[in-house]
Amino acid sequence: MSSKPYIYITRKLPEEIINNLCTFADVGMWEKEEEPVPREILLQETKKADALLTMLSDRIDEEIFQAGEKLKVIANLAVGYDNIDIELATKYGIAVCHTPDVLTDTTADLAFSLLLMVGRRLAESVELVKSGEWKSWSPLFMAGTDIHHKTIGIVGMGKIGEALAKRALGFDMNVLYHNRHRKMDVEKALGVHYRSFPDLVTESDYVVCLTPLTEETRGMFTKDVFRKMKKTAFFINVARGAVVIEEDLLLALREGEIAGAGLDVFEKEPIDPQHPFLKMKNVVALPHIGSASIETRTAMMKLCCRNIELILKNEKPISIVNEAVFLAK
Ligand code: DGY
Repeated sequence: MSSKPYIYITRKLPEEIINNLCTFADVGMWEKEEEPVPREILLQETKKADALLTMLSDRIDEEIFQAGEKLKVIANLAVGYDNIDIELATKYGIAVCHTPDVLTDTTADLAFSLLLMVGRRLAESVELVKSGEWKSWSPLFMAGTDIHHKTIGIVGMGKIGEALAKRALGFDMNVLYHNRHRKMDVEKALGVHYRSFPDLVTESDYVVCLTPLTEETRGMFTKDVFRKMKKTAFFINVARGAVVIEEDLLLALREGEIAGAGLDVFEKEPIDPQHPFLKMKNVVALPHIGSASIETRTAMMKLCCRNIELILKNEKPISIVNEAVFLAK
């Protein structure tokens, strides 16, 4: 039996990314790019593994921690880690690492793109030209809503929120934010304004959700929240689907409580192609691509590998969620 540590990667990654891991460890990998690893295989591999490199689609719970007798680290290829039971991982002494910072600007770019898409009806316009429905120029043909000088309300003012605020300020938008803790330094540096959650949703023309999924934020966008929004306002979600009660959003869209939605994330991913959201002209749906640029995904993969290497070599990782585990060693 090899004395090297064993690392299991739950989705196919490029060889050049994992080459360095292979210099000090045995590396196993689920070889399919498009399909998640089946649960039984993940459990079998976990039994042998010192480290797992996981995707946000992998549910990492007690069954995994129990199977992973040698497991020391889980590096999740995402900044969000709601797919992992952090409290239990900590109890089992397993370090959980994630990928903050490297994806900040790319995700903010995508959030702002969604805002442009819904406001200016870009997806609808593209479809219309492709389907040969473009008959003539006319005064209100495909007229959307302005972006500049409108009010954006950012829910969740972390690093991505700040990066989004900068983009919005470049478009001369009025920027409001809501966050668990008020950020006076950011308010001063950027000229953005704090609002309570109800005031933010009432005043904004574009409400953008960037909050992590936690027990407090699960289902926070309810029908009461959508009812408070302006009928001309748009809802954009680049966080996690489960922060929204999707039925309530659907109802708000159907009943004209809000003007439209731009969604990169859904409660169930991939979304069912028959889902009513996909039949609505005023909904732009994307396949969870917030951080999906080649440059950023490469940086995220490298960061996961580096975190695994550092933990397995008993060195301080770059981005750990449950630092107590590392400090306890
Ligand atoms: C994350 O990193 O949490 C994103 O959702 C991945 O695109």
